[in-house]
Amino acid sequence: MVLRLLPLLIVGTTAAATPIQTAYSTCKNIPGDAGWPGPGVWHHLNNTVGGRLIGTIPVAHICHNAGIYPAFNETACVALQEAFSDAGAQTLEPQPGEMLNPYFMNTSCSPFTSQSLPCELGNRAVYSINVTGPADVQAGLRFASDHNIRLVVKNTGLDYMGKSSGHGALSLWMYNLKSIDVIHHYASTHYLGAAVKLGSGVIAGDAYEALNGTGYRIVAPECGLTGIAGGYLQGGGHSQLVTKYGAPADQVLEWELVTPAGEYLIATPEQNTDLYWALAGGGGGTYGVVLSVTIKAHPDGPVAGGTLIFNNTNDAAFWEAVGIWFHTSPSFVQNTTNNVQFLVTNATLQVFSFVLPDQNTSAIHDLVAPFLADLKRLNLAYELKTTQSSTYADSLATAYGPFPYGNLCPTYPIISSRLIPRATVLNSTSNAQLMNTYRSITSDGTWFVGCSIINVAEGSPIRGPHPPNAVHPAWRKAIAYCNPNNPWDWDDPGKSLALKRQLVDEFFPAVEAATPGSGVYLNEMDPLYTGDWKQTMYGDNYDRLLRIKHAHDPHRLMYAHFAVGADEFTLDDEARLCHA
Ligand SMILES: Cc1cc2nc3c(=O)[nH]c(=O)nc-3n(C[C@H](O)[C@H](O)[C@H](O)COP(=O)(O)OP(=O)(O)OC[C@H]3O[C@@H](n4cnc5c(N)ncnc54)[C@H](O)[C@@H]3O)c2cc1C
Ligand SMILES: *[C@@H]1O[C@H](CO)[C@@H](O)[C@H](O)[C@H]1NC(C)=O
Ligand SMILES: *[C@@H]1O[C@H](CO)[C@@H](O)[C@H](O)[C@H]1NC(C)=O
Ligand SMILES: *[C@@H]1O[C@H](CO)[C@@H](O)[C@H](O)[C@H]1NC(C)=O
Ligand SMILES: *[C@@H]1O[C@H](CO)[C@@H](O)[C@H](O)[C@H]1NC(C)=O
Ligand SMILES: *[C@@H]1O[C@H](CO)[C@@H](O)[C@H](O)[C@H]1NC(C)=O
Ligand SMILES: *[C@@H]1O[C@H](CO)[C@@H](O)[C@H](O)[C@H]1NC(C)=O
Ligand SMILES: *[C@@H]1O[C@H](CO)[C@@H](O)[C@H](O)[C@H]1NC(C)=O
Ligand SMILES: *[C@@H]1O[C@H](CO)[C@@H](O)[C@H](O)[C@H]1NC(C)=O
Ligand SMILES: *[C@@H]1O[C@H](CO)[C@@H](O)[C@H](O)[C@H]1NC(C)=O
Ligand SMILES: *[C@@H]1O[C@H](CO)[C@@H](O)[C@H](O)[C@H]1NC(C)=O
Repeated sequence: MVLRLLPLLIVGTTAAATPIQTAYSTCKNIPGDAGWPGPGVWHHLNNTVGGRLIGTIPVAHICHNAGIYPAFNETACVALQEAFSDAGAQTLEPQPGEMLNPYFMNTSCSPFTSQSLPCELGNRAVYSINVTGPADVQAGLRFASDHNIRLVVKNTGLDYMGKSSGHGALSLWMYNLKSIDVIHHYASTHYLGAAVKLGSGVIAGDAYEALNGTGYRIVAPECGLTGIAGGYLQGGGHSQLVTKYGAPADQVLEWELVTPAGEYLIATPEQNTDLYWALAGGGGGTYGVVLSVTIKAHPDGPVAGGTLIFNNTNDAAFWEAVGIWFHTSPSFVQNTTNNVQFLVTNATLQVFSFVLPDQNTSAIHDLVAPFLADLKRLNLAYELKTTQSSTYADSLATAYGPFPYGNLCPTYPIISSRLIPRATVLNSTSNAQLMNTYRSITSDGTWFVGCSIINVAEGSPIRGPHPPNAVHPAWRKAIAYCNPNNPWDWDDPGKSLALKRQLVDEFFPAVEAATPGSGVYLNEMDPLYTGDWKQTMYGDNYDRLLRIKHAHDPHRLMYAHFAVGADEFTLDDEARLCHA
């Protein structure tokens, strides 16, 4: 249903908007280009959006005395360095124009570089519209189209591929759409039950806090700082509750959005079905600008949780045990509601979170009993602890730390996910190859592999069917997603870049070879990935996704690295976004 139809946007309409055709006429304008709007034109946009246009001032300008906004202040800069390292998310996430990925921050205005280096915007958007509703989005889309300016959509700025940042861009900043509305009786042709409508700026930690006590739980991110309606749900998402209820994107009842062509509409499994399908798993920042999402809410109840640790006191026995752990992992989630999250280093395997919704701790003991017998046989000591929580929020906070942000999730990890097929771990030969790969990745003692054992297979006896959506089909065949992981080193960007190269050039191809035909969680990839990103990130959905994108974005306003249609653009030498 089209709630309001705007006149179609037309690129490069007026001569006044783009007076001079430069050599870059196929490129978007950046500051300094003849086509970049003057102050009066921006002022006019500011009036159109009720004075909510914000010029980006990098947070770290207080660490520099050159470049834009020189304002070096040693005390403030030292405090910022500490805030970055200790709690970067809290510092950066609420800031317009900022992003959290160090690779895209690119030392262009870093708290960790010399004060004499100029503070520059780099990949930060030049202006942001602090969006309050559809009219702001429509104004931003129209402006970007009329003035041939790169557009980005930003919620939290977490994206690992830099998809919510862009040099010379106008940003639609969605973070302040914070409404949370419980709908006790949602009714549609395919769902009758409770639901919750989330403004697109709601972060997981806030949603959990708001819902705790309402009697409902939702399928949402583990890490409290992650948005829900933006890149998370649009990228398919992962959660501790997927085995019980299905993938995060499977929970979506409706999207409220503005299409790139300016149409304000609602997409559900019954109306605007192509957009509904594409937005649920086809990637953020591609098909439209989402203002809110309505997802299923489920009855809350007790959750059994716990941890299990065993150490590498004998290398051969340890890796045999890790192999058995993976090989038997399907039994942890087959015909159950369970989720098991763990990490492996060369020195330990740590289950940091068992999640057994609506069960008690005796179920954890039953679940691991056969594996503990193997550990005893292999003479490996272990420590198993269990806890009972009365709600999912309490269970999550026990494992991940207090809301809203928690304290477990690394803020600046270097990672590249892989969906591990059930078939790979069930087959002793291919499981052994996978173990050799992880053993090799972790061998230098710095990398760990973090995994979550899940089951979102089709035809589960635990859950009903889900509406058709663009979740990568490899998820349905996966037993786990696993991410090699190493923290970004702020003091040594060169080392951090070398770790990224090791990940994409050495480790990731080995993991792919051990899991042929599978895919990835498209939100948790390294931007330097060199393989077949279309197949790896979208599977066989790619061609249909591209058709839907072309139908709704005729003037190619929405671009993001590794988003569907991204290869129709390139970046030139000065980081202008150009049509390929
Ligand atoms: C520290 C950290 C913890 C994480 N934890 C989890 C986790 O627990 N579970 C999980 O599944 N993933 C997790 N992720 C991955 C996360 O899902 C992705 O980074 C995701 O892209 C974040 O979406 P966002 O909207 O919050 O971020 P943003 O970076 O703001 O946006 C990501 C993408 O979505 C687009 N987008 C954002 N808002 C909108 C909107 N309203 N309409 C249209 N497009 C939009 C942007 O343009 C961009 O392409 C984590 C990432 C980090 C860095
Ligand atoms: C937009 O207008 C508001 C209100 O007048 C003002 O505070 C703000 O600085 C303006 N933004 C820009 C980018 O000039
Ligand atoms: C420098 O920063 C500190 C801490 O934020 C602040 O108290 C102080 O006033 C600042 N100094 C100047 C000169 O702005
Ligand atoms: C980082 O900045 C350098 C120098 O401006 C540039 O060459 C490079 O492309 C930038 N990298 C990213 C990821 O933006
Ligand atoms: C953005 O707008 C919200 C109101 O929607 C306001 O509370 C907030 O202060 C604004 N943020 C900035 C940085 O202007
Ligand atoms: C899971 O449940 C289905 C349907 O109830 C059944 O056919 C199948 O054998 C069960 N699998 C296991 C491993 O218990
Ligand atoms: C735990 O659950 C099992 C299986 O449902 C049940 O038999 C047992 O009584 C429960 N224990 C407690 C303490 O509730
Ligand atoms: C594993 O090693 C850690 C660190 O040395 C130690 O604290 C812990 O007790 C060990 N756990 C077991 C089960 O041996
Ligand atoms: C959830 O609510 C209960 C009851 O009000 C409270 O005791 C608990 O601390 C809350 N949990 C979290 C994680 O906020
Ligand atoms: C098990 O995996 C190996 C190696 O990938 C493969 O050659 C073999 O065909 C697989 N066996 C079965 C039964 O699938
Ligand atoms: C893990 O790797 C580190 C670094 O090479 C090494 O010092 C340590 O002994 C290794 N641990 C085990 C248990 O092999």
